[in-house]
Amino acid sequence: MPNGRLIFARRPAGSLTVDTFRFEESEIPEAGPGQVVCRTVLLSIDPAARAWMQARTYRERLVEGELMPGHGLAEVIASGSNVPAGAIVTGPVGWQEYALLDATAVRTVEVRSVLSHYLGVLGITGITAHIGLLAVGQPRPGETVLISGAAGATGNVAGQLARIHGCRVVGIAGSSAKTTFLVKELGFDAAVDHRSRSFADDLKSACPDGVDVYFDNVGGPILERVLRAMNAHGRIVCCGGVSQYDTQDPAPGPRGVPGLLTTKRLRMEGFIVHDHVDDWPAAHSELESHVAAGRLRVIESVIEGLDRAPQALISQLKGSNLGKCLVRVGKDPEALPRVIRPAE
Ligand SMILES: NC(=O)c1ccc[n+]([C@@H]2O[C@H](COP(=O)([O-])OP(=O)(O)OC[C@H]3O[C@@H](n4cnc5c(N)ncnc54)[C@H](OP(=O)(O)O)[C@@H]3O)[C@@H](O)[C@H]2O)c1
Repeated sequence: MPNGRLIFARRPAGSLTVDTFRFEESEIPEAGPGQVVCRTVLLSIDPAARAWMQARTYRERLVEGELMPGHGLAEVIASGSNVPAGAIVTGPVGWQEYALLDATAVRTVEVRSVLSHYLGVLGITGITAHIGLLAVGQPRPGETVLISGAAGATGNVAGQLARIHGCRVVGIAGSSAKTTFLVKELGFDAAVDHRSRSFADDLKSACPDGVDVYFDNVGGPILERVLRAMNAHGRIVCCGGVSQYDTQDPAPGPRGVPGLLTTKRLRMEGFIVHDHVDDWPAAHSELESHVAAGRLRVIESVIEGLDRAPQALISQLKGSNLGKCLVRVGKDPEALPRVIRPAE
């Protein structure tokens, strides 16, 4: 049986297109000492993958001809390590059906929920929302928390967490269907459509007392607009800048920095979730308890088939997804281990 893989074939000039990628087949690898062979079940589709194509970010710029990198959930099918065959793991499987990885690169999942949750709300996405909102943003009950990309994977969790922590929550999303969903289904206090001509006025009406914490997933002109709405001593959590990923020519700015930071005494802070691994277990268990109690709704868009991963990323960058965007690469294992831990 061959191993289907998607290669980063050509650096995009302008917006991402499917011919950025090339499909190829290889042999399924064998596990050497300290290694695992993983069968990919689900792939996380992340807008940052577009940014990796363009420039050095928190990782090296992608090189044409390399396997498209990506995070996924997989079943270990062969092992030369203490992570046993049958274990469910998450890790950097890449856009392929079978991955050979160092056992140290994967995390064993103690399966207590639907598998897809371990890439979304109970995985890096949910943990990013948790750490960004609570550790970086430090919202207090009653404060106004504004979230961009609010109907996306990270944003919807950050918004629901802010609501759970007693804040007034306002979302920014890219359609009226999404803004209605945020208010009616996820309990946001208000939501505004950034593609509407009345966005600036709508934002003012939705935040009559200003903004105390801005959880920013998008950067660009929306960040510039929100800077003016911030209250004194507000916090801006720079989680990402998706509005500037799908281009060769990111916009400079925003204007208002440093002037508004100074006059309003704002704190604007970026973070990368991988710098906070010591905080992951506590964040995970809080998220797990909110999901189990029904306080935190899980929103996912799952696309079938590895061959559709390129289109999934293209569409996500245009805002087609609601919640976490995933690609199903293979079936769930027939018998799911409740808990498989690495051998001591
Ligand atoms: N700091 C970290 O450690 C960390 C970790 C993970 C992710 N991130 C970042 O978190 C952000 C969200 O990632 P995600 O995985 O949750 O993706 P996502 O929000 O599920 O998907 C991206 C969303 O961005 C919005 N968007 C696209 N173009 C836009 C534009 N020009 N202006 C405004 N919004 C636009 C679209 O929603 P609309 O249709 O609603 O506009 C789209 O659905 C990204 O910036 C990502 O890089 C950071």
